[in-house]
Formats: sequence, structure tokens, C-alpha cells
Amino acid sequence: ESYDMGGHDTYMHKEISEQADAVDRVLRGRIDDRFSTVHLGGLNLDAREARGVRRIKILGCGTSYHAGLIGAGLIESLARIPADAEPASEFRYRNPVVDPDTLYIAVSQSGETYDVLAAVQELKRKGARVLGVVNVVGSAIAREADGGVYVHAGPEVCVVSTKCFTNTVVAFALLALHLGRIRDLSVSDGKRIIEGLRKLPEQIAEILRTEDRIKEVAEAYAGAQSMMFIGRVRGYPVALEASLKLKEISYIHAEAYPASELKHGPLALIEPALPTVAIVPDDDLLEKNRAALEEIKARSGRILAVAHREQEKADHTLVVPKNEPELDPILMGIPLQLLAYHTALAMGRDIDKPRNLAKSVTVE
Ligand code: AGP
Repeated sequence: ESYDMGGHDTYMHKEISEQADAVDRVLRGRIDDRFSTVHLGGLNLDAREARGVRRIKILGCGTSYHAGLIGAGLIESLARIPADAEPASEFRYRNPVVDPDTLYIAVSQSGETYDVLAAVQELKRKGARVLGVVNVVGSAIAREADGGVYVHAGPEVCVVSTKCFTNTVVAFALLALHLGRIRDLSVSDGKRIIEGLRKLPEQIAEILRTEDRIKEVAEAYAGAQSMMFIGRVRGYPVALEASLKLKEISYIHAEAYPASELKHGPLALIEPALPTVAIVPDDDLLEKNRAALEEIKARSGRILAVAHREQEKADHTLVVPKNEPELDPILMGIPLQLLAYHTALAMGRDIDKPRNLAKSVTVE
């Protein structure tokens, strides 16, 4: 990919549109059908070492932190290693316990974010093993890490991250599959995930073909002062990332909550002027998510659902194709990038250069 706009009006639109190819690239040459696993050449972690990992801590900022949250979920479900993600910007300042059996993973598009780099250096100084999940080859974080997985999203010019977010989550799926197959993930589950991964580029293209409909929906919500984003478990980081995207380029205030937390406070905000975007996959939490939609409707809240089929309680539904439940967050994030994009466009915002933000934050 070159830096020219390739016929798009903005880099953000160009980068959103490139995602099917970008995902194809992060998968290329890595799948091993014989053993239903993947090869990650730069990991620098042999099978014996991988089996010794007791916990995984993922560190990143902004969108990369959100990708890390989904990554932690993937690692827990596929590799059954306790995993969590934390903003790298906070990590250093709480004098964290650095445990020799914990594997640390730094996530960064640019590989130059100071808060992430400083966290990596602090960890290295304390003897921890740190991997990088990084887009820019040879960047500071990639060089500092003991090994890692390149995300291969290609150059990302727009200040807000889209294709790199998607590719980072796919890279985490590969890492989780690799760790899982070294541990207790069965051959058939490995195969199931590989088949799911292979479907992603075509399913992403299918979502991108619905852009006109997403634009129509975005225009219906563009006048909102504030928006609520909700999801549960795998859907919650998708809600967090979608709300960040909307804030960054439209300047609409947005909150993201686990749908399960609504009744513990944020339900008080629901009224016709506060639309809710709900992530509603057809998974084991479908009925719970639907109950949350009913609670919102009972308070006259408008609802936009991102789901695998039309949601009766929603005013609008953006339907996305189904994949394996573990991989659903990858696809559910994509219409929400276009939602933020078309909302900001309808509001006349400078999409590629949102106010007060820089592409990479190399100072504290
Ligand atoms: C992305 O839309 C943001 N502009 C921002 O949150 C970004 O993800 C963050 O600053 C981290 O950047 P990095 O991935 O290059 O480390």
C-alpha cells in the first residue's frame, strides 16, 4: 500500500476499506493445517517456556489497549491462561508486582508510544519477559521486546486507528491459538478457529459492502449530544473501542459500559435524547443482552444494535456475518468504525486530523 489516497476522500476511509487485505496479510504463511495451529516465527518462546507461563499481562494505550482487552479474552478462552489488559500509562505508576511466571505483552501500532515503551523498559529492568504485538517493523517497542508478533496492517496514516486495531486482534487470535495448541486446546477446536480465521477477509468485505446502510443509520444519530455503548464479555471491549472512535472524530460524548452494569447506575441516563449502541452477538449471552435492550426501551431510549440478526427491540440493527464466537469481536467492530466515520462526516469534522490528538504520543 502506498500513502496516496487511492481514490478515497480520507485516509480513515482508505484504511477501513483495506481491512480484508490487511487481515489476509496477518494470516499469510502462519497457518499450519497439519497440526491445527499457527507458526509465529518471531515469538522467541519455545513450547516448554510457553507451558511455564502462569499469567499474561497485556499493556497498551487507547485503541491498542482495547485490542489488548479482546486479546486477553482470546488467550483465556483458547489457551486457558489467566490474562488481563491494563493501560500502559497507568501500569508503571502503581509499582506493579513483576512476577517471573507472568508473560508481559506490549501492544502498539506505532511501536513508539512513550507510555508503552517506558512500561516495557521498567519490566525489562525487573527481569520480566516482554513480547510485542506491534505494527511498525523495527520500531522502539519492537526492538526493546524479547520477541513478538508483527501485525502487518501496513502503514496507518489517519490519527485514529482502524485497520491496525482489527489486525492486532487477529494477531492476538493467532497467539492465543498457538498457546492453546501447546496447552489444552484440542485439534478440533484448533481447526474450528483456523476455519473461522480464514473466513474473516470475505466476511469483512461483506460488511464493507453494507456501507450505504451504515451511512444512513449514522446520519440518523449524528445530531446526538451523547451516546451510550454497551456490550457483555467479548462485546464490552468492542463497545469501548467504538465509543473511543466516535469521541475522537465526531467529538460526541460517549460512554461505554458492560450491559450488565446498566442497572448499577448508568440506566439513570437513559432517555430519548441518549441513544444506545448495543453489541448483541448470537452467543450464550444473547438473552441477557436482549433483556438489557428491553430495559432501555422501557425508558424510551433509542437503540442501534450490532447483531447477527435483526433485533426486535432495536430501532436499527446493523447485521454482521457470524463467525466462531471467539472471533465475533473482530467483525462487530467494523461497522462501528464506519458508524463513527459517517457520523463525523455528517458533522463536517476533520476526520484524518481530529483536534488535540497526535498519531503517536512519544512524550509522557
Ligand atoms: C487511536 O484511535 C488513538 N488515536 C490512540 O488511542 C492510540 O491507539 C494510542 O495513542 C496508542 O497508540 P499506539 O498503538 O501507536 O501505541
